[in-house]
Amino acid sequence: MSQTYPASDEFIARAHVNAAQYEEMYAASVSDPDAFWAEHGKRIDWIKPFTKVKNTSFEFGNVDIKWFEDGTLNVAANCIDRHVATRGDQTAIIWEPDDPKTPARHISYTELKDEVSRMANVLKAQGIGRGDRVVIYLPMIPEAAYAMLACARIGAIHSIVFAGFSPDALANRINDCGAKAVITADTAPRGGRRTALKSNTDKALFDCSDKVKCFVVKHTGDQTTWIDGRDLDLKAMMAEASTDCPPEEMGAEDPLFILYTSGSTGRPKGVVHTSGGYLVYASMTQQLTFDYHDGDIFWCTADVGWVTGHSYIVYGPLANGATTIMFEGVPTYPDAGRFWEVCAKHRVNQFYTAPTAIRALMGQGTEWVEKHDLSSLKLLGSVGEPINPEAWNWYNTHVGKGRCPIVDTFWQTETGGHMITALPGATAAKPGAATKPFFGVQPEVLDPATAEVQTDTAAEGVLCIKDSWPGQMRTVWGDHERFMDTYFSQYKGYYFTGDGCRRDADGDYWITGRVDDVINVSGHRMGTAEVESALVAHEAVAEAAVVGYPHDIKGQGIYAYVTLMNDQSPSEELRKELVKWVRTEIGPIASPDLIQWAPGLPKTRSGKIMRRILRKIAENDYGALGDTSTLADPSVVDDLIENRMNRG
Ligand code: PRX
Repeated sequence: MSQTYPASDEFIARAHVNAAQYEEMYAASVSDPDAFWAEHGKRIDWIKPFTKVKNTSFEFGNVDIKWFEDGTLNVAANCIDRHVATRGDQTAIIWEPDDPKTPARHISYTELKDEVSRMANVLKAQGIGRGDRVVIYLPMIPEAAYAMLACARIGAIHSIVFAGFSPDALANRINDCGAKAVITADTAPRGGRRTALKSNTDKALFDCSDKVKCFVVKHTGDQTTWIDGRDLDLKAMMAEASTDCPPEEMGAEDPLFILYTSGSTGRPKGVVHTSGGYLVYASMTQQLTFDYHDGDIFWCTADVGWVTGHSYIVYGPLANGATTIMFEGVPTYPDAGRFWEVCAKHRVNQFYTAPTAIRALMGQGTEWVEKHDLSSLKLLGSVGEPINPEAWNWYNTHVGKGRCPIVDTFWQTETGGHMITALPGATAAKPGAATKPFFGVQPEVLDPATAEVQTDTAAEGVLCIKDSWPGQMRTVWGDHERFMDTYFSQYKGYYFTGDGCRRDADGDYWITGRVDDVINVSGHRMGTAEVESALVAHEAVAEAAVVGYPHDIKGQGIYAYVTLMNDQSPSEELRKELVKWVRTEIGPIASPDLIQWAPGLPKTRSGKIMRRILRKIAENDYGALGDTSTLADPSVVDDLIENRMNRG
């Protein structure tokens, strides 16, 4: 039996949801989703109230997901305007800069309304409106939130590209969604270093239509090239723009944003989230999972380039009238106490981060935590990968001082918000387990071989979801077939998460990691196929196979097996060059940690690479290679093992 950690009686007494309420509400949410969500759909403001609630089908070939479909609303008005009358002076966003010597900024709801309206008017004046796509390639500065909300205000669809992605990756996304404009900044300070975002954007735009406009936020004032007629000084234009911009009336199912994410095959997919259901779900999960109360200071350390930043820095908290922190920096700059310094400085109440950050800080010793006053913390959250017991214990003991509930939230870019998580007043934490489904979420454990639903409480298999929830993605941008193939073809009638899972005898869910060719590096999702195609694009490379392997800090590292062209020979120089090559093709987050020269790769007689074997070799787990008799040339495996071992 695993040890469990319930919240204190005092916490439970104040919590939005206690255990009895959870049971009752959960049962209601699955037995009559229409009634349940009709009620909870009212948590946001509708211009025209919906009369239909759920209209969804998971039937393969016919997948169609609509929530609140005849309602109209504006997401930005929900995140800003409706709070102005009651809490106009309250801080909406606290911006904490990379350099702790630069003062933090407190942006009130009233200011937020003015800034977002100004930006929205600038976009409109440049011909951007309903349904147009705008790519945002910005650091963690208030303008990133303004840009998201300005798009939402005028009905444009934003697509954020994480500022760590390369010009190529940026260009691919601009082209895939047919963006009319990109919003970037001159340079981005992070951990004391600067990323040249504008120059990356210039490179990307070489490969895009010359109609794409480029708005530039002059953030650091660093010199950049400037192309008249294309580049627009966003701050200067905002200064001239009106603060009056009436929000567009949007349909509940109008897209709010596209966010590209990696899958097992092909290029990253544009995950489409729409307006009504997404906002209901993001706001409800932010309030209940973190037990957020009015006046609390909420800090999610993610970047707005990932879904976590969308739902839990911007849309969820602001829809709830919360105070949310946007942090420009990194956990270890100027020292390993930065997170805790920021918690103390802004009296943070709920703190939400990823296990990889915890592991990195854990390695720096406890003195960095002890230096700072963490007495304001009430709750801790974890996201992105399973949290290992050492990291959980360290987080609990040294950060939470044993008095803060920890919520381990399992979800995905595709799900819009939390799927399986403890609710702190209702569910005792169990280190390593995501525990129980959120309202409306019906997880099922399926046998991967037979696709049979496992009916015993204690079960192991792949994690599928039986029915829709409001925050679910609706389609892949421009490719509904791909949406159906990716998520609904393997297990008919179910949404397939791509994750393996175990359900214990208490009915708690433990996510065991991806069962497809997706790897999770420092909480960032990478498709192994993407890294492979970057590698083979190098002239020295004949073939490449990429797998994940356990990494102490990153969770998983990137292990690349590379077969060189006949006229090439392995060298340390070439190894470095390939790492650099991948960084330029995709971005630093895709840098291979290990490259093993592989004269041959294990293939079946039909030429399919047996990744299962490569994974085992990368994991140093040679005892469990399984059946290698179907290999065209079994001796390849011995070679690879020998080289793996020699590498140490
Ligand atoms: O494998 C699961 C893992 O992250 C994947 C989703 O990645 P992404 O779309 O980038 O979204 C990350 C943030 C929501 C999942 O398929 N994952 C996410 N949270 C957890 C997790 N694995 C275990 N426990 C979690 N709490």
